[in-house]
Amino acid sequence: MDKLIITGGARLDGEIRISGAKNAALPILAATLLADGPVTVGNLPHLHDITTMIELFGRMGIEPVIDEKLAVEIDPRTIKTLVAPYELVKTMRASILVLGPMVARFGKAEVALPGGCAIGSRPVDLHIRGLEAMGAKIEVESGYIKAEAPEGGLRGAHFFFDTVSVTGTENIMMAAALAKGRSVLQNAAREPEVVDLANFINAMGGKVQGAGTDTIIIDGVERLASATYRVMPDRIETGTYLVAAAVTGGRVKVKDTDPTILEAVLEKLKEAGAELTTGEDWIELDMHGKRPKAVNLRTAPYPAFPTDMQAQFISLNAIAEGTGAVIETIFENRFMHVYEMHRMGAQIQVEGNTAIVTGVPALKGAPVMATDLRASASLVLSALVAEGDTLIDRIYHIDRGYECIEEKLQMLGAIIRRVPG
Ligand code: EPZ
Repeated sequence: MDKLIITGGARLDGEIRISGAKNAALPILAATLLADGPVTVGNLPHLHDITTMIELFGRMGIEPVIDEKLAVEIDPRTIKTLVAPYELVKTMRASILVLGPMVARFGKAEVALPGGCAIGSRPVDLHIRGLEAMGAKIEVESGYIKAEAPEGGLRGAHFFFDTVSVTGTENIMMAAALAKGRSVLQNAAREPEVVDLANFINAMGGKVQGAGTDTIIIDGVERLASATYRVMPDRIETGTYLVAAAVTGGRVKVKDTDPTILEAVLEKLKEAGAELTTGEDWIELDMHGKRPKAVNLRTAPYPAFPTDMQAQFISLNAIAEGTGAVIETIFENRFMHVYEMHRMGAQIQVEGNTAIVTGVPALKGAPVMATDLRASASLVLSALVAEGDTLIDRIYHIDRGYECIEEKLQMLGAIIRRVPG
């Protein structure tokens, strides 16, 4: 397994380009199954999860064509099997996103039940109940979700999400796009990636209204046509590099992004003492060499502070002036990075879903282990500012969500290299 070796102490300074959003690209690639002709998706990040989704399509008989700009053309008409096998689904939970489109477009689907993962049990009951509300017959047996549309296809339904679920909202929205009649989704997720998916469905001729609010209305159409679409920028990658500059007292300009999709994160960075300037598609953060101040935060569904930025802010608080309380309300086990940071001398106490972080003047480099995607990013951030070398193991977690992380950090002046494992 590859490892990263980082020598801390360099104050980051420079500019980088932000890649397309992983959590918009995955539902949008799944939604290509809805079309009745070839669809081209651009600005895809070069990430392991994207490769997995493309490999999943290959297993189903769809051969995506990748062009010179790494845009992907998918023609769902070549599909041969409606089964998403366990050996792929277990490596990427977001594979569940093919369920809704397959039932809607082809009338049936068999998708392996995604297991839990490091950060929590990750149930998919809302995905299943939403499809049942549209008339689908669903059995869960021997580890597979077996779904079948009713005679005449899925029917529009009124569905209330007990819990705000991002991929739950996305799966049901995609299924509703080809259902008969109108669907109303209440307590829907408001994340920008849900909006990006809705825009893509509408680009194919769909009728989705209200994405970005908690009530989404979808009028099913007979067919969805070919289209070309460009995925939105990644707000979590954006936030992660801004925190990298903040923890090192440095300056970074992130380009090809959008300051309006991570306002809760920008507010917390200002509270931490960062000077922020923004343009239409860029954000510049400058700490002027100062140590950040600790911040309190509480994760919640968008537009509140995103759970995917929680670990990164624990890294910021770990070396900040003062003490900050971080409350995680979305996932039940998303503090594993804390126990690795303890190895670097971080003063963090976890009580239930709250981590109390008392900033120390300096962390010490140490061998640590990545446990999940965002936790591994937070270990990189801590290593950037720690004294000495940090060896991060199991960095395949990082490669799932951060395109060329060591190259981008090297461009900012970090001393980081990958050691093939
Ligand atoms: C999406 O996961 C993201 N993944 C996650 O990003 C992100 O952390 C999460 O949303 C929250 O923002 C993708 O978009 C591919 P949820 P998702 O359904 O949709 C409960 C990353 O690092 N729930 O919004 O799986 C669930 O247990 C990843 O890029 C049910 O109870 O998350 C959780 O407590 C990690 N039943 C809450 O809802 C369901 O059927 C929110 O989960 C579904 C979810």
